[in-house]
Amino acid sequence: MRTNPPAGRFGALWSDLAGIGRDGRRGGYSRHGFDDADLQVREWFAEQASRRGLDVEVDRNGNQWAWWGVPGPGAVVTGSHLDSVPGGGAFDGPLGVVSALLAIDELRVRGVRPAVPVAVACFVEEEGGRFGLPCLGSRLMTGAVDPDGARRLHDSAGVSLADAARRTGVDPAGMGADPARLAMISAFIELHVEQGRLLHAADPAAVIGVGSRIVAHGRWRITFTGQGNHAGTTAPADRHDPMIPAAGAVMAARQIVSEHPGAVATVGRLQPNPGGTNVIASSVDVWLDVRHGTATDTAALVDEIVAAVRKEANAEGCSVVLHRESMTEAVSFDPGLEMDLAELLAAPVIPTGAGHDAGILSSRLPTAMLFVRNPSGVSHAPGEHAETADCLHGVQALADALQRVLR
Ligand code: GLV
Ligand code: MN
Ligand code: MN
Repeated sequence: MRTNPPAGRFGALWSDLAGIGRDGRRGGYSRHGFDDADLQVREWFAEQASRRGLDVEVDRNGNQWAWWGVPGPGAVVTGSHLDSVPGGGAFDGPLGVVSALLAIDELRVRGVRPAVPVAVACFVEEEGGRFGLPCLGSRLMTGAVDPDGARRLHDSAGVSLADAARRTGVDPAGMGADPARLAMISAFIELHVEQGRLLHAADPAAVIGVGSRIVAHGRWRITFTGQGNHAGTTAPADRHDPMIPAAGAVMAARQIVSEHPGAVATVGRLQPNPGGTNVIASSVDVWLDVRHGTATDTAALVDEIVAAVRKEANAEGCSVVLHRESMTEAVSFDPGLEMDLAELLAAPVIPTGAGHDAGILSSRLPTAMLFVRNPSGVSHAPGEHAETADCLHGVQALADALQRVLR
């Protein structure tokens, strides 16, 4: 039986998080793997879990787990992440964690006594905002990334993942695939704020959607190298300005994806070196995020974009180096769970263009996602929003879903 929504408890948890990791310069929140804000939200999570009598554990990859019951076979896991993109919204990640804690409260209120352990997981650096690799914690756990390569990832200040993890008390030597933990889990259900407007398009009245699949997505860094020079004294004919092909890359990405329905490409980050107003840059790094049907489709699009920018770079006398930072193949969530939850919650089934830890875990165990409506569709930006009543509905839906898989 459903109980009244825990509005007060939701508000209290939400306001705790509201103060952590605010980004005064960019707006919104900047919380990245193992940085100061992340340490604070990790502490907050551990404390909230302990208050509920859950046993808190940090796995060898730094992911946090809060156990209701003794960890063991058949475990049902929910949760999400607490890190953000730079200047991100309040909901992407935290809504799944807060809802998971409240769903456990709700199951207890309903008198549910699970026969298997239940856990809330918080995955490290889902956004890849600091070390560049999205879903870092779940990738490490599933072995989708080589731990040696991961330990060497570094942030923009040159701090390695290994050093950052050590500072949090996580021994980087232990990082890597965790088959024993994966083998314990019978299902993972992640609740998330809806990103984009597919839920609204499927049913404008729907508060909850059930995820079907995630499109393939990847990140590339293109480095254009030219010749640093004086902005005032260098004649146009003498310039080898890497900003010219960099600008061409932005335009080519837009143009080329417009010829491939369903594809998207974004340049959200661009770094000229050295970066002076009166300086022709010597090099420019351009980060390209491309998403399309499958990994092969996505890679083919990137090839097209890069072929176009090579021409512009040649014309400017600049070199081009392409480096793939990540690639995530398209995944489908568990079809049985998807059908079951869509029926249970009378919710439309929608795909998503966003990456999630549930997507990474789906290669190893049955996973499902619930989306809470966000009518504007805005996400990865301070304007990301879901109404509290809808979030409370999400808590109930997550509790219903957990209860269903715990039967
Ligand atoms: C993460 O939210 C992503 O889709 O990049
Ligand atoms: Mn995100
Ligand atoms: Mn997320």
